[in-house]
Amino acid sequence: MEPKQPDESNKFKDEIYYLAMSPLIAMALNSTLAFNIPKLLENPKTIDELAQQTSAVKGKLERTLLALEAFGYYSFDEQSQKWSNSGKTVLFLDQAFRDAIYFCCVPFQYEILLRFADALQCDRSSCELQTGRNIYDELAHRNLDNNYFQTGLGAYTKMSGDSLFNSIDLKNSIRILDAGGGDGTLLCELAKRNSNIQGTVLDMASISEIATKNIESYGLQEKITFLGGDFREEVPSGYDCIIFKQTLNSWTDEVASRILENCYRSLESGKKLIIIEHVLVKTDENYREVRYLDLIDISEIEAKVRNMEEFRRIIEYPGFVIDNVKKIPGQYIFEATKP
Ligand SMILES: C[S@@+](CC[C@H](N)C(=O)[O-])C[C@H]1O[C@@H](n2cnc3c(N)ncnc32)[C@H](O)[C@@H]1O
Repeated sequence: MEPKQPDESNKFKDEIYYLAMSPLIAMALNSTLAFNIPKLLENPKTIDELAQQTSAVKGKLERTLLALEAFGYYSFDEQSQKWSNSGKTVLFLDQAFRDAIYFCCVPFQYEILLRFADALQCDRSSCELQTGRNIYDELAHRNLDNNYFQTGLGAYTKMSGDSLFNSIDLKNSIRILDAGGGDGTLLCELAKRNSNIQGTVLDMASISEIATKNIESYGLQEKITFLGGDFREEVPSGYDCIIFKQTLNSWTDEVASRILENCYRSLESGKKLIIIEHVLVKTDENYREVRYLDLIDISEIEAKVRNMEEFRRIIEYPGFVIDNVKKIPGQYIFEATKP
């Protein structure tokens, strides 16, 4: 084997170094969000103005912003000597997106991560080793973190936009159940686009307030309600279609099959099941992101992200017939019917 060229190994060194540094970059960014800097920069500002309005030490704030700018966050104009938002930081004007980043940086995330190696040596997730509970049960005891988590997921759903919402086929479906529907963003966005649908968000009782507030903020409380419950125990009946979005990958095949069996039992013949999920397909452009999500499972809950065959198996297990599998950016939509 030929020895590696020096410039190639330098490139690898840089990449590995940045990877190891990324919590520091994330925390620096997160701190600027805590100071609401993207909002302050809706009108460009000098470092003096920023330091004054955030009570930060000017020199340290400047160094932080310069480092972040080197990674594409924020932008400094030499001529006017003013800071403004970059394309990346404009996204943080949305509170929900800020929440998504806060959630990644809360101390308990780091406590969990420190148990990753331990999780590799047993059949429990890092979160279970650290707290005694899986991520969802733990969040039920952490109101503020749960808020960040749920609104962050809502922001992510909104960012998927029409490529997601317009790909969910709801014809012949009026009553929709979004199982594990979080803060209700998906169902609200669907109801905004399909005036005839109504539905229920089924999720853990602990997020009732977060979801109810979000549904009210859409003005859809007459059409969409929240129901606290555990889909592992029971799925309510009376719906034309049950949706799971980014929820089944949080459960082992055994538990996911039981959840889908509950759905099968609750639906009448001819009614629909729609699963929107990340699927491990090695040739997909976002394979690396999906692999990363699988690491989240090791860290947060004893489960794994599935490949196509594994998905087909759990959907068909209770008796659903798969009608269609669609690819949308980053995810797949499985459409199935109870015969
Ligand atoms: C990864 S999140 C996905 C949320 C939402 N569907 C989305 O796409 O943004 C999984 C959701 O499942 C909910 N969940 C977890 N365990 C549950 C259970 N046993 N019964 C009902 N919902 C549950 C969580 O609270 C969370 O909102």
